[in-house]
Amino acid sequence: MIAINDIHKTFNKGKANQVNAVNGISLHIAEEEFLVIVGSNGSGKTTLLNLVAGSVFPDTGSISIDENNVSKLPDYHRSQWIARVFQNPVSGTASDLSILDNFRLAAIRTKAKGLSIGINDKFKQQVKEKIATLGMGLENKVEQSMGTLSGGQRQALTLLMSVMDSCKVLLLDEPTAALDPRSAEVVMRTADKLITDFKLTAILITHNLKDAYNYGTRIMQMSEGLVLRDLNNKQKSDLKQNDLFDWFG
Ligand SMILES: Nc1ncnc2c1ncn2[C@@H]1O[C@H](COP(=O)(O)OP(=O)(O)OP(=O)(O)O)[C@@H](O)[C@H]1O
Ligand SMILES: [Mg+2]
Repeated sequence: MIAINDIHKTFNKGKANQVNAVNGISLHIAEEEFLVIVGSNGSGKTTLLNLVAGSVFPDTGSISIDENNVSKLPDYHRSQWIARVFQNPVSGTASDLSILDNFRLAAIRTKAKGLSIGINDKFKQQVKEKIATLGMGLENKVEQSMGTLSGGQRQALTLLMSVMDSCKVLLLDEPTAALDPRSAEVVMRTADKLITDFKLTAILITHNLKDAYNYGTRIMQMSEGLVLRDLNNKQKSDLKQNDLFDWFG
């Protein structure tokens, strides 16, 4: 599904503040794999995700998605495969618009599958049904503006909107870092359910040990722009929470 071949990325090359953010990483991420990436601050996790998304280009090495070499393709062209959710709940949706209008925009932007775009009651009904699956009671608030919702509610809706199109890859960069523990749990459970239901290939970056332990089918630790550890589903299931704790030294 995603093939990363000996990828390198250096920022500020040749200057005093040169940073070798990604130092030669090769990875094969299979279809429907859910990869969790952990690692200390500055270890290159976000840069790797940006390289996959196309918001940063590699100096050397290549990336392909579904056999298509996308190494030189900018992020807006890769969005046919890739959806992203960021740390800040505000970045995914328009605050002044209602929940319904945000879904309308998302549907227009992505030509979402299974939604008949429009202002009619049918569209509204479909959106309400989708939102009801979150189990947050937000289906009765679709006329309310996005800005009036909590960070957790917004992040759950952002997730739902981002997976409703035909994308196959979901990139999550610390999606719960700005949320309180309860909202964070709801958002993580929602993400996990959507990844399974929509058969997505997913990458989650997290600093939360419990989430890293509980979610995903593979776990990788990065250090100084390299892959330090990489455990498959079986190895991950055999891992004890304390072992993972030790990873963080
Ligand atoms: N656009 C940029 N320009 C210059 N340096 C950058 C840029 N983006 C990232 N870096 C540097 O590359 C290194 C890796 O950064 P990155 O954001 O990938 O780390 P990270 O593992 O995501 O860290 P964190 O856990 O803090 O989010 C850091 O030293 C960072 O300062
Ligand atoms: Mg980061």
